[in-house]
Formats: sequence, structure tokens, C-alpha cells
Amino acid sequence: MSKLPFDKIVLASHNQGKIAELKAMVEPFGVEVLSAADLDLPEVIEDRDTFEGNATKKAVEICQAVNLPTLADDSGLCVDALDGGPGVYTARYSRTYERLMDEIKDVPSADRGAHFVCVLAFALPTDDTKVEAFRGECQGVIHTEALGEGGFGYDPVFIPTGETRTFAEMTPAEKKQFSHRGQAMNMFLDYLKAF
Ligand code: IMP
Repeated sequence: MSKLPFDKIVLASHNQGKIAELKAMVEPFGVEVLSAADLDLPEVIEDRDTFEGNATKKAVEICQAVNLPTLADDSGLCVDALDGGPGVYTARYSRTYERLMDEIKDVPSADRGAHFVCVLAFALPTDDTKVEAFRGECQGVIHTEALGEGGFGYDPVFIPTGETRTFAEMTPAEKKQFSHRGQAMNMFLDYLKAF
């Protein structure tokens, strides 16, 4: 696919880390990417209890406000030692890793499993605001120390399965090959091919 079936897309997010990753994934297809900050849009309140619920809410509210195709990302980290938390509440728990590292500091390596989830919701400005959601997941472990300078959020402490480096030690292209967001983006691009 060389081009997307529209020439502008809005990213319904104020998170600079997510915007940087999503822009890099979408711009090669020749589409202008506008962020919620570019359009001076308010932050949508994330009050649903699923990733799909929040992503869909963000995509639909922004799409209806700006009347443009809109992509929203809701993501989080599910930690085995915290019974799957903070999960959908990751941003509220903490946008960075220090609190988590402190809470699981006594958990042995074998029990430090975790997975990232990313749901991308795409809303089109039709009469009934058509919306589709795509879910990517990435398994891994929470490392015992923070390593690397790249990425954002929990990247310095997350090592995906099959790797020895944290996400923050990888280039954006390397992270994308493993990441929850890269997988959801591939599903979204496959969906667009069917347009
Ligand atoms: P929300 O989707 O706005 O609710 O925020 C999710 C939070 O999860 C982010 O603020 C980050 O702390 C974390 N998060 C989501 N995706 C990633 C990622 O790819 N790397 C590191 N942290 C992430």
C-alpha cells in the first residue's frame, strides 16, 4: 500500500511518546498527521474500564469535533505480580516506571512477567461515525533496573520476549517490530488496504 485513502489524519492524543511513534508509522504513507495539540483539542476523559472502550471514546469524540479521520490509542502495562494491573489504569497509576519498580522490588525474576496492550481505534466522519478497533499485545518481563534512553513511559524497564534489551535500548524501528503499538498499527494498515 503506497498511500492511505485520505490525506489527513488526526491523532487523538496529547502523549508525545505515542504521537512520535504513531506519526513515524503513518507518515510514510503520504498522509498529513495532526495531533490533538496541533488542533488545540481538549484531553478526552478516559473513564471506561477497557482499552477498547477508552480508545473508541477518544476516537469518536475527536472525530466528531474536527470532522476528520481520527486515530486514538489507549494502552497500558499489565503486570503479573500486580494481578494484571495497572492495565487500563496505567496512566492514572503512573506514566513513568518508578512507582512500579518500587512496588515489585522484592519480586523474583521468574515472577516478573508482564505484557503491554495497545488498542488503536479509528473513527471516520460518516453520519453514524464508523469506528473500528485493533488490539496489539506484547509479552515480556519487567527488568530489575532501568536501561536505555529511548522511548517513553515504561520502556526503560520492559524487555520483550526473545530480546535481551529493554524497549528504551532499541531504535524506534526495532521497538515497532515487537511492540503492542506496532502490531495494532499493522492491523490498522491491513484494514485500510481493504478500502
Ligand atoms: P493512556 O493510553 O493515555 O491511558 O496511557 C497509557 C500509559 O501507558 C502511558 O502514559 C505510558 O505510561 C504507558 N505506555 C503505553 N504504551 C507504552 C509504550 O509503548 N512504552 C512505555 N510505556 C507505555
